[in-house]
Amino acid sequence: MNSYWNENKDTREYPKLKQNISADVAIIGGGLTGIQTAYYLANRGLKVVVLEKDKLCSGTSGGSTGKITSQHGLIYKYLKDLNGKEYAKKYYNANEEAKENIIKIINKEKIDCDLEMKNAYVFTEVEKEVQNIKQEIEYTKKLNIPSEFVNKIDLPIDIYGAIKFENQAQFDPVKYVYGLTKSIIKNGGEIYENSKVLETVEDDGRYNITTKEGMVRATHLVIATRYPIIRFPGYYFIKMYQSTSYAVLVDTNTDLEFDGYYINSETPVLSFRTVKSGDKNLLLAVGYDYKTGSEIVGNPFEYLKARIKKMYPEAKVLNTWTAEDCISLDKIPYIGDFSDIMDNCYVATGFNKWGITSSNIAAKIITDKILGNENEYEEIFESSRLGIIKNKDEVMNMLKEAGEGIVLQRIKGKPTPTCTHLGCKLSWNPLEEIWECSCHGSKFTKRGFVLEGPAVKDLEE
Ligand code: FES
Repeated sequence: MNSYWNENKDTREYPKLKQNISADVAIIGGGLTGIQTAYYLANRGLKVVVLEKDKLCSGTSGGSTGKITSQHGLIYKYLKDLNGKEYAKKYYNANEEAKENIIKIINKEKIDCDLEMKNAYVFTEVEKEVQNIKQEIEYTKKLNIPSEFVNKIDLPIDIYGAIKFENQAQFDPVKYVYGLTKSIIKNGGEIYENSKVLETVEDDGRYNITTKEGMVRATHLVIATRYPIIRFPGYYFIKMYQSTSYAVLVDTNTDLEFDGYYINSETPVLSFRTVKSGDKNLLLAVGYDYKTGSEIVGNPFEYLKARIKKMYPEAKVLNTWTAEDCISLDKIPYIGDFSDIMDNCYVATGFNKWGITSSNIAAKIITDKILGNENEYEEIFESSRLGIIKNKDEVMNMLKEAGEGIVLQRIKGKPTPTCTHLGCKLSWNPLEEIWECSCHGSKFTKRGFVLEGPAVKDLEE
């Protein structure tokens, strides 16, 4: 199931790594985080190598909604309650700056990626939810974050209210990434596709990063694989879980013109935006998230289609896909040093479905770390933070599931198949006809090939 962005992408291909090379920085993962990091570093004259296991943007970046925004659901009251006013404001500033950075890069590099300025809305169709929206507005005002309450949006639905952030943006994330690759190559960077990393070893102060047919020896290592492919000593597998969203793109057969994009505040999650296709605006609907590996109730694609039909009876489905993302235990990304005991190794993960601005924040923080510069947002995303323990329910949930997965494997002998990451039992997803792991969200094809990590090894291996 290819996303619309991936089906309409640049046809440029990058070679497979087939020799041993050296670099200042090796980046594992050719999505938004990896490519933006490579862009910034190559611009500063560092020799950068990107290793992508499949094609650029074949993972979460290519399946995303492409919303460039600091409005991450109703997050500001939550952040203020969790970490205080200053923290919440810094989070907002970091994301607003990231939005501006992306726009600046698009203009500077003249990237044709359907950039449009839009307002961002969180709406509710549930009466009792409206108090949460009003509360969020009250908190954003206290933080000097511009927001507004509205009771009407361009979607043909009745709402009880919405919070509006003006001056946000949307784009085609895949065109953006391909636009950046031109500059990376021009500045001496190298990009390799179909080059799955099998092993990373620290050797004499540098890293050896091995693929099937070649190796990169680098001073700095950046893990930008959505879910870190290295298990220890980062222990990210006990600090987050993965969630899958469904996406349906339709031609509504109407003159679709929205002043913004929209997401609801209740569950099931529903998100809408327009997508430029020639002279037309298509409608992208995303939602019905579920924790990867858990039981899927009914058919979320059909629920989404039914919901769209209610709004636009003439709608014709053009494309469907799914996208997976990592959810951190405190809803804040982990960005920075991979571990206190691994020098020059960096990570960016746990973007909680708001990966467009988060990926730019990550690229800037990691670039600054490598160049030895200070970054004012580094501490609020610190990857080794302990604050996550505050969210005890989520931690217990994850430990219980991981434990049950492994125990089941041991008690029943051989429930087939088991995950090659840490041995949890897999469950069958009949909708996509793939195997999924409920512990940390790896996915495998029917025949056992890894589709999504953290697992690296195929089931057959
Ligand atoms: Fe970790 Fe399966 S993804 S055990």
